[in-house]
Amino acid sequence: MIIVTTVEKLETEIANARSKMKSIGFVPTMGALHAGHIELVKRSVSENDYNVVSIFVNPTQFNNASDLEKYPRNIEADALLLEEAGCDLIFAPSIDAIYTESEKNYRFEFDFEGLDTVMEGKFRPGHFNGVVQIVSKLFTFVKPHRSYFGEKDFQQLAIIHLMTKKLEFDIQIIDCPIVREPSGLAMSSRNERLTTSQRKTAASISKILFESKQSVTNRLPLELKNWVENEIAKVDELKLEYFEIVDANTLQIINNWSVASVGCIAVFCGEVRLIDNIRY
Ligand code: PAF
Repeated sequence: MIIVTTVEKLETEIANARSKMKSIGFVPTMGALHAGHIELVKRSVSENDYNVVSIFVNPTQFNNASDLEKYPRNIEADALLLEEAGCDLIFAPSIDAIYTESEKNYRFEFDFEGLDTVMEGKFRPGHFNGVVQIVSKLFTFVKPHRSYFGEKDFQQLAIIHLMTKKLEFDIQIIDCPIVREPSGLAMSSRNERLTTSQRKTAASISKILFESKQSVTNRLPLELKNWVENEIAKVDELKLEYFEIVDANTLQIINNWSVASVGCIAVFCGEVRLIDNIRY
């Protein structure tokens, strides 16, 4: 496994792998890797000849300076995990290797076709502009055959599918299931910032989501939304930002169960913002 920090070196290595007719798998990450990321990498390794992981804490997708500053970073530990998982190349660029001065400071324009009007898009204005900005750049550099994303970031995944289609990337996007801790808590790099007692509290989020699934037959979406909101409110230290039940394809809020739907939640546990979702 090699670690490269410049686009030039990355492109040379990719061209070399492609000239040997190798299929390229790609997992974009912001580092602080956990078992959820490693599942993505292992899936990529099982389906491709040459596997690339990027580690880049993308400043343009953060709309809160303190969140960006506190985002956990641990490249040495990440590299050990990636080597073990069978990764061939880590791309770990600096901000200047990726963005020009003007790119750092303007909002990347993209027509999300309404996918960004709810949930993360509503509460983190500009977040998805930054995600599309960085992922489209990484796709252009890495030119993978397949790229792997976790379903925990459900809205992000929908937007990556849209972006891939609209920008005509010839890349297969592979949706990978949420990986959970034994307590049910969805794996996230942000979990590292939880205290031991907060980690226990945070497990209530998935517990409430799983329980909500039991009552889809006797509650309308709005009633179920209210039930989840009330249950979260009962847990000390959890502060709900949103819970929405949306059409799994359009991400628009639904009023009846006639379409495939997903319940998406964002909750603060202390200062740490966590997201999760469940299919109904
Ligand atoms: O999901 C993430 O970790 C990030 O949003 C991504 C896709 C690596 C882009 O920075």
